Amino acid sequence: MHKAAVTEYPVHELIRNRWSPRAFSDRPVEPAVLASLFEAARWAASSFNDQPWAYLVASRDDKENFAKMLGVLVEGNQKWAKDAPVLALSVARKHFHHTGKPNPVAVHDVGAANAQLTAEATSRGLLVHQMAGFSHEKARLAFGIPEGWDPVSAIAIGYPGDPQILPEDFRKSELAPRTRKPIREFVMSGSWGHTAPFAAK
Ligand SMILES: Cc1cc2nc3c(=O)[nH]c(=O)nc-3n(C[C@H](O)[C@H](O)[C@H](O)COP(=O)(O)O)c2cc1C
Repeated sequence: MHKAAVTEYPVHELIRNRWSPRAFSDRPVEPAVLASLFEAARWAASSFNDQPWAYLVASRDDKENFAKMLGVLVEGNQKWAKDAPVLALSVARKHFHHTGKPNPVAVHDVGAANAQLTAEATSRGLLVHQMAGFSHEKARLAFGIPEGWDPVSAIAIGYPGDPQILPEDFRKSELAPRTRKPIREFVMSGSWGHTAPFAAK
């Protein structure tokens, strides 16, 4: 299924075609494709090139690892993420490598890496659904995440599936139109609250 964004202004098809599904196909994600997704994450920009990201990854065929990852998610996410072929967890290092000082943009930079992973995935016909709905404590324990690193988001990755496989409530939101606030509401210039002229449509 495709749910391309209905945009106010033209954007690249990778941006239009990215969305967060809950229905994934059974088709496994080839290891070489997975490697390319994390290669894309690797080349994200980061403050001081600190690259404060790490990922834990579990494919569904690796039953034990996948069950561990699924167990970290909140119940509402487990219901659909159990059928994703790949689950992952992005993790941020909280202090700069070179100084040991707190990195105030670590989570931002992990988000940028996740966005690049997602763009690469979209270009290959895959879809990505990130989740904040997971237990940080369970993740830390399950995977031995060390002090100084914090989980950021769980990530489901796979090829698009049939919404009919979903329970009723999820199917409804899977089929609902995607919505966004208009850019005039968040793009300003001069002073806070003043819409930038180019965004005023
Ligand atoms: C960091 C982050 C956390 C999210 N957490 C969840 C989640 O726990 N469960 C869920 O079903 N969707 C989650 N989402 C998906 C958002 O609900 C979704 O991106 C948003 O509704 C916009 O829809 P779209 O991605 O299809 O454009 C999350 C997305 C992001 C980026």
